Amino acid sequence: MSSEDSERTLVLIKPDAVRRGLVGEILGRLERKGLTLAAVTLRTMSADLADAHYAEHVQRPFYPPLKQFMTSGPLVAAVVAGDQAVAVVRTLVGATDGRAAAAGTIRGDLSLSNRENLVHASDSAASAQREIALWFPAG
Ligand code: PPS
Repeated sequence: MSSEDSERTLVLIKPDAVRRGLVGEILGRLERKGLTLAAVTLRTMSADLADAHYAEHVQRPFYPPLKQFMTSGPLVAAVVAGDQAVAVVRTLVGATDGRAAAAGTIRGDLSLSNRENLVHASDSAASAQREIALWFPAG
């Protein structure tokens, strides 16, 4: 695969995963798949960044508890790269609700919640581009 074929996606290792000491486990799963880290940082999401990141969800009833959770402590933001990285990462992460996610996926193995579900991963190439620009504005 040439570098031109490499796609980038945004991964957030959410505050529950940081609190539970699962950052290495989650990054390790992505790396063992063959994906690479193009950027990584530990930070706490501000209220403004939450509103921008979740712009399509701000009017949804689940948004206030989602925002409270996502701003509750440090998270790890990473740009993950590789062939078809958006789809590959979504497959590795599993369904939104950890109770329903398939065994073998990150959420299926490690989460019992649809809020504290350990990982956010961009859902399309367009979302990835928008979200990477929000989290890593310097490029
Ligand atoms: S949708 O309707 O398919 O677009 O939404 P979905 O992808 O299932 O979920 C979008 C994000 O909202 C989070 N979520 C919740 N947070 C708190 N409480 C409840 N009930 C809830 N339901 C969904 C879900 O974890 C998704 O977060 P991200 O960061 O995008 O994975």
